[in-house]
Amino acid sequence: MTENLINWNDSYSVGNTEMDEQHKKLIAIINKLFKSFKEGNAQEILQDILQEMIDYANFHLNSEEKLMFKYNYPQKEEHEKLHQSFRDKTSELKNLLNSNSKDAHYKMIEYLKTWWTNHILVEDMKYSDFLG
Ligand SMILES: [Fe+2]
Repeated sequence: MTENLINWNDSYSVGNTEMDEQHKKLIAIINKLFKSFKEGNAQEILQDILQEMIDYANFHLNSEEKLMFKYNYPQKEEHEKLHQSFRDKTSELKNLLNSNSKDAHYKMIEYLKTWWTNHILVEDMKYSDFLG
C-alpha cells in the first residue's frame, strides 16, 4: 500500500464546492500516477494516467476561469496567465515520461505535486472570498 503523494484536507478548501471537488479529483489522479510509478508499472500505463491528468486539468482550469469571469474576480487575468503556464508545460511533462529515466519520471510527478499544491494553497486561495 503506497502512501498518497498529496492528501487533501480542509486547508485546501477554496470555499467553493465545485472547485473543491475538482481539486480533489485532480489530486486523486496525481496520487494514482504516483502509485502506479511506485509499483513499477509499464510506461504506457503511466502515459495514460498522465493524459487523464492533463485532460482533467484542462477541464478544471477552464471551469475555474468561467467562474472567475462569472463573479468578476479582480485578478482573473493574472490568474489565467498562471493557468496558461501550466498548459504550456504539457509537452515537457510528456517528454519527461517518454524518457527511460525513472528519475525523469519522478521529477515530472514532483513537478505536478509542487505546482498544484502551490497553485491551490496560494493562488486559488486568493479567490476564496470572491467565488460564491
Ligand atoms: Fe487556478
